[in-house]
Amino acid sequence: MTMLTVDLDAEADLARCGALKDFWYVACLSTELPANKPVARTVFGTGLVLFRGPDGAPTALRDRCLHRNARLSQGDVFDGRLGCPYHGWVYDVSGAVVEIPALGPPQRGEKLDAHACTHEGLKPAPCDVGRLARFPTREQDGLVYVYLGKDVTQARAEPFRVPYWGERGWTVYFMVTRFANGVTNLVENFMDVPHTSFVHRGWFRNPTRKRVPSTVKRHAGRVRMTYHQEEDALTGLGRLFNPRGLPLVHTDEFIVPNVTRVDYQWGDSGFAINSQCTPIGPTDTWVYTAISYRLPVDVPGAWVGRALTPLVRWYTRQVIQQDVRIMETQRQGLTDGPGGGMYSSTEADLHHADIEAYRRWLREGAHGPGPEDAERDVVFWV
Ligand code: FES
Ligand SMILES: [Fe+2]
Repeated sequence: MTMLTVDLDAEADLARCGALKDFWYVACLSTELPANKPVARTVFGTGLVLFRGPDGAPTALRDRCLHRNARLSQGDVFDGRLGCPYHGWVYDVSGAVVEIPALGPPQRGEKLDAHACTHEGLKPAPCDVGRLARFPTREQDGLVYVYLGKDVTQARAEPFRVPYWGERGWTVYFMVTRFANGVTNLVENFMDVPHTSFVHRGWFRNPTRKRVPSTVKRHAGRVRMTYHQEEDALTGLGRLFNPRGLPLVHTDEFIVPNVTRVDYQWGDSGFAINSQCTPIGPTDTWVYTAISYRLPVDVPGAWVGRALTPLVRWYTRQVIQQDVRIMETQRQGLTDGPGGGMYSSTEADLHHADIEAYRRWLREGAHGPGPEDAERDVVFWV
């Protein structure tokens, strides 16, 4: 059997993704889930309906009515309950049916008497029709997380904390982007420096033919890249961050199974780009990117940071769209007939190979101790 580096189908399939599902995934931004409207999301190929219960907390249920399977996400939310758009069955946050309009007033909150339901095989009361599958949710740092693993008490990690969320002087905003590729390829892209001078030429970094010595550390489900390059040739808005020419500290980190964090710091200013990938299907992924930044304090104040947000947003949107296009281009080649999914790696891909090793180990069920800790120096050129 050939060993695929990346198996797009398996890694996005709830039944075949092994331990990849035993983590919290972002379902939507908090602001995408209003109090009175359900929202549809697909995670690991599973249709979910999200809505807010009577206390405002998010709930995630299987998006399929027990009655005739209509999409509940096209229904309504009232008093923290979800009504099916077809015949109006009403569900509470536990996924139980609490009202069936066609059964009339007697069934509200009480069992119908046995004589009222003499037809065999029919359910006499809402409480008898069963319950929709319900998935644990968490809301924190402006994000709604959902858990699709077997047992939430066995989750392999807590939901990821957004860098600098709520911290003084930092501006944080989100971007939500749909990519036509799988999670492994996306996290590699977000942790990849060499592509920036091709895909983002002129926008972020120009080719400089510079040698970049780096350290790749693989430890406890994290792959951390430290670039020993104190001067960086950032172009565009990147230059705003370092008017004083301070040394750059640049690290990229992957955190299993789907998180990347890129940090550029000059003194106490800098930015962090944190991306969380949520698989929809084999070649479809939602990426929730949190951009946190702080401009140099002595130059402009925090309000300038906020005032610049529209510009920074526009700029980061352009850069992300360049990645959306290249990820689509990669996916086209990868899924073009047999043989796709086997990669060739060089020294400049060592950290990618580490990411693949962790994700493959999880996908195969996380048996044994997993990839061993390792720390290696590598050199590449940009
Ligand atoms: S299909 Fe949902 S109430 Fe009939
Ligand atoms: Fe990129």
